[in-house]
Amino acid sequence: MVFLTRRSRFNAAHKLWVKDWSDEKNMEIFGKCANPNFHGHNYTLYVTVKGEPDPVTGMLINAKDLAAIIKGEVIDKLDHKNLNLDVPFIPEGMQTTCENLAIVIWQRIHPKIQQCQLHCVRLEETENIYTEYFG
Ligand code: NI
Repeated sequence: MVFLTRRSRFNAAHKLWVKDWSDEKNMEIFGKCANPNFHGHNYTLYVTVKGEPDPVTGMLINAKDLAAIIKGEVIDKLDHKNLNLDVPFIPEGMQTTCENLAIVIWQRIHPKIQQCQLHCVRLEETENIYTEYFG
């Protein structure tokens, strides 16, 4: 078994907020991410696939194909967007946390990976925190 990872970057705005809570409670729980007029993050996305290399090409998946899937399914849809408002596949009311975004990104990419298996979606929200989702 061998693993292959592609890194991508995007930036986007979001806000974490529970409508039924007071402003004070939202600020207490979500901190700066509850800023009423949104704020941005520079996200780094790592998509890892796994399997056995093809005996002829030596590849798990053609890196160009993997790049095109990630770009088409995720980056083009999220980059420079407001994650709370602009993205049709992010359900209304879903908290746009790193955790939930990793799951949504997995769901976008997973059906498109045919040649090998999707292993992990890792999403870094800042240099100090990230999530990993394994399906
Ligand atoms: Ni935030």
